[in-house]
Amino acid sequence: MIFHVLTIFPEFFEGPFAYGVVKRAREAGILEIRIHNLRNWTSDRHQSVDDRPFGGGEGMVLKPEPVFLAVESIFPERQPWQRVVLLSAQGRLFHQAAANRLAGEAELLLICGRYEGVDERVAEHLADEEVSIGNYVLSGGELAAAVLIDAVARLLPGALGNESSAVFESFQETGHGEGLLDCPHWTRPADFRGWRVPDVLLNGNHQEIRSFRKHAALEKTARLRPDLTPSEPRPSGGGHRGKIED
Ligand code: ADE
Repeated sequence: MIFHVLTIFPEFFEGPFAYGVVKRAREAGILEIRIHNLRNWTSDRHQSVDDRPFGGGEGMVLKPEPVFLAVESIFPERQPWQRVVLLSAQGRLFHQAAANRLAGEAELLLICGRYEGVDERVAEHLADEEVSIGNYVLSGGELAAAVLIDAVARLLPGALGNESSAVFESFQETGHGEGLLDCPHWTRPADFRGWRVPDVLLNGNHQEIRSFRKHAALEKTARLRPDLTPSEPRPSGGGHRGKIED
């Protein structure tokens, strides 16, 4: 999978993709990340990418022209599998189902918004979708791009050492997760400062361990994330209802 990132802070990305799963996926050729400096598509002496908002108001708005020129130059003959995502606080909320869907794409170009916003014609006529990583305002889309790439990269086949390990994580609709939080985990020592690991995890009975983990995941989800808890008994084999469809 290829990611392009369009940003005015290319140096920002020297850190986030140089570690762990993302680094290994890049080295294995599963993932390619190309960073593009938006200022390369400006033509004035100051390489300006922003301007004042029509109608007045605070702050500056990212101009459409450099963004359109950049995308048209990165995707000169844009194909249906070359998708463009605008990262902004006004976008549709990113979640695990969206990460799964995007992991099936071949080539994604992420536009990092900055300043007070991005000229709306970018969202309307250039981007395929507008995505927010949470209900808070960041100073730009760079952190959001790093979050999205990390969440998607680890879902790519072969990115995790153990193929099945993404299946049993929080939010995944497969495995025992079924859209719940992951179950809690413990490691050695079995007794740490008097806090003991649940005995069931030490007895080697895998049936009991599976059942304990399922209940522990449900209990923790109900306690910390009641919004994810199914309100009705779930039909066998189905995920729970009432969550936002992707
Ligand atoms: N830019 C500013 N805030 C953002 C958010 N919450 N998600 C994505 N991009 C952003």
